[in-house]
Amino acid sequence: KSQKMIETILLAIPGFVLLWVLITYVEHLISLRKYPKGPFPLPLVGNVLLLSEKPYLDFIKLTKTYGDVFSFSFGMKRIVIVNSYEGTKEALITRGTDFAGRPTDSIYLKIHSNDFSSVAWSDYTKSNIFIRKLATKSLHLYGTGMANIEEIIIEGVEKMCSILSKETNKPVTMKTYLGNTIVNTICHLCFSKRYEPDDAEFQRILRFTNLLAHGLNPAQPLALFPWLRFFPDTDCFRSLKLGCKIRHELTNRFFNEHIKTFNPEKIRDVADNLLYLSQNKDVWQDAGFEEVTQQQLESITHDIFTAGIETNLTTLRWFIIYILKHPEVQTNIYQEIVSKIGLKRQPVVADMEKLDYVQAVLHETNRFASIAPLNVPHKTIVDTTVRNHQIPKDTQVLFNLYSMHHDPTHWNEPEKFKPERWLNADGSLKKEKATHYIPFSAGTRVCLGKRMAEMQLFLIVTRLLVNFEVSLAAGESVPDINHVKVGLTLEPASDPDVMLTRR
Ligand code: HEM
Repeated sequence: KSQKMIETILLAIPGFVLLWVLITYVEHLISLRKYPKGPFPLPLVGNVLLLSEKPYLDFIKLTKTYGDVFSFSFGMKRIVIVNSYEGTKEALITRGTDFAGRPTDSIYLKIHSNDFSSVAWSDYTKSNIFIRKLATKSLHLYGTGMANIEEIIIEGVEKMCSILSKETNKPVTMKTYLGNTIVNTICHLCFSKRYEPDDAEFQRILRFTNLLAHGLNPAQPLALFPWLRFFPDTDCFRSLKLGCKIRHELTNRFFNEHIKTFNPEKIRDVADNLLYLSQNKDVWQDAGFEEVTQQQLESITHDIFTAGIETNLTTLRWFIIYILKHPEVQTNIYQEIVSKIGLKRQPVVADMEKLDYVQAVLHETNRFASIAPLNVPHKTIVDTTVRNHQIPKDTQVLFNLYSMHHDPTHWNEPEKFKPERWLNADGSLKKEKATHYIPFSAGTRVCLGKRMAEMQLFLIVTRLLVNFEVSLAAGESVPDINHVKVGLTLEPASDPDVMLTRR
């Protein structure tokens, strides 16, 4: 008798699953009327079959049918995509905080961000506002006894150049040297740690950053179908869990060491600054002071690691490819440095304003590469509108930064890499151009490492090119710029080996 019951239950399961799929689908179809129009979804998968490996380009194609703001079903979740500069500006700037939330329904981001306690992944709550202020302030390391960010970056770049000077006239993989420099700078900044490339602890740090870059791929199946977490772990999910474990072991130990040796008279780094600021209620009198846990402070450094490494590294990898493809750009940068600064000293941040051509190349690199093509997902925190479309509260919104940076109505020949587009006839920088360009996003959630990223990109590019000439290594060819890898950032699919010649 009991066997019969088991058989009946087993036979009923597919029926229940089918019923669940049907009910979810009907509910989804009914909900569509609340959103801007968009493609008609299929059961379970929604519209994802319309996507290729370059979703930001697929969304540009859909604007021809649905306009610059439309909705799209990721599985049975309807989200909104904003593809124009006008829509993005209205949503992120004019509408204040309406779009400042973050979706908190992703299981892999929940694990990565210690249950959404970090700056980058927490929703727009009182706690997020406070943590963001704390993080922003902790990055201002100026004051007595503290190195400032420029000195920290320069120390890293000098070390890179000195290592590279022993690697001239033979094939080198710049990705490795740039990556080591960027990771070392973040370790120095956050925890006063500086490593030799073969140091075992440094290798553990590189390992967790690589595991996390893989595990945070927004195109993984788990991002689409959260119920997959009840099935055996995917490769991405395993990477994420292992990456978080190694990261926790290290940053937790670093924080504990800092707590033991903390001296408020001598702030050494971001970790010390976070400890100091989080204890100092007076600093926060008018900013809604909240008690913060050590785990939240650790999460802030996790954000700096995740947001500050892949982004800068990917941008520099594209930069190397662009100068190999356009050798005259490298010559022009070198000549500008020689004529405006000379060769008696190395470039510093104060030179940024003088080097218009370098600025133009860096802007063009950010525009052309658009390494965060769909921005970090946002969420509406109230019922709101954009470009006269109603958008309900709690809707996930993607801003297609790639579409904005390649829009032919704002950019002449957008598919060409042309630093000159940023320059006036006399070679000075066109300031107004930068208004249609937001690689670091804008508004309430704007990248909080923007200034640091700009300084680091500038110092690495100028000091690399003033010391070395970069050319393709024998047998290598310039990669096709359309071959990309879409992961945490929009990366080149491959990096050619280069040869460095001492200037
Ligand atoms: C080329 C380098 C970089 C680019 C292109 C970049 C771009 C971005 C973008 C597009 C966002 C999303 C903003 C939004 O949600 O609207 C963001 C957020 C963020 N970035 Fe960056 N970033 C870079 C470097 C850095 C660095 C060096 C750091 C840290 C020192 C950093 C820390 C952050 C943090 C903490 C957030 C989250 C802000 C929040 O959610 O409130 N980024 N970045």
